[in-house]
Amino acid sequence: MGGPMQSPLGQTSLVTLEGVTHVYGANASGGPALNAVSFSIGAGETVAVIGESGSGKSTLARILAGLLPVTRGTIRLRGETLAGTTQHRSSDLLRRIQIIFQNPGSSLNPRHRVSTIIGRPLQHFFGLSGAALADRVETLLGEVRLPGHYGERYPSELSGGERQRVAIARALAAEPDLLICDEVTSALDVSVQAALLSLLKDVQKRTGVSMLFITHDLALARWFADRAIVLFRGTLCEDTAIPELYERPRHPYTASLIEAVPSIARSLT
Ligand SMILES: Nc1ncnc2c1ncn2[C@@H]1O[C@H](COP(=O)(O)OP(=O)(O)OP(=O)(O)O)[C@@H](O)[C@H]1O
Ligand SMILES: [Mg+2]
Repeated sequence: MGGPMQSPLGQTSLVTLEGVTHVYGANASGGPALNAVSFSIGAGETVAVIGESGSGKSTLARILAGLLPVTRGTIRLRGETLAGTTQHRSSDLLRRIQIIFQNPGSSLNPRHRVSTIIGRPLQHFFGLSGAALADRVETLLGEVRLPGHYGERYPSELSGGERQRVAIARALAAEPDLLICDEVTSALDVSVQAALLSLLKDVQKRTGVSMLFITHDLALARWFADRAIVLFRGTLCEDTAIPELYERPRHPYTASLIEAVPSIARSLT
């Protein structure tokens, strides 16, 4: 374990990134997609990641989840250095960081029933089987506000919003320390977005899980997160508590983002 670490808001740090860089391909012409990014996420804290398309948000998410290697730099979880990709991480480390993607269709195996999809991490990480497994699946369905009989369905028999709920239930099944949400509502109809966001807010309050919440929507970040980092062409240009982000943006790019934009957050309270 490393020494005590504090995030800017004073929480004990859960995840710390130091100089994390990612270059796609062997001889990428466009420079690093992520360039020497350093920040930390406190225990129980939600950090929003804001930035225009192509700024490196999903690259950051995939690196944390172990789906892409770090080209340079280090990531620590509770002081323990994370190995590059999923193949090199222990089962327990894999469990601790879960990710939900933008497109709920492609992240669920179409050949498996919902109960199998949610049951997998329960079997794999906790060794559940039989009635205990079935009970836990039903509880998780309830936590994402889906009826228990949805366990029988296949992903093709669900709406986009319901599929995303299943993806959330599958992530929660692992009892993660960090939940990465990569634009999880942007592929959904506006009316469905609000319900899903309040569900995530409930999860955040109830479980105390740390979140990395990636969004284009600044007002949504304000509603959802404690702190925000802003990426600009792969570089971190802002790392502040949400109120300060609005009151004293440090980078001109942040100031330009803050100019009024339509937001789903208006329909939330
Ligand atoms: N598989 C890949 N191979 C090569 N370059 C990639 C790959 N994926 C992303 N990139 C490049 O890396 C940069 C960052 O992409 P990334 O997907 O992280 O952006 P983003 O901030 O998530 O954008 P968006 O808001 O559109 O989702 C972009 O320039 C993109 O073209
Ligand atoms: Mg993205």
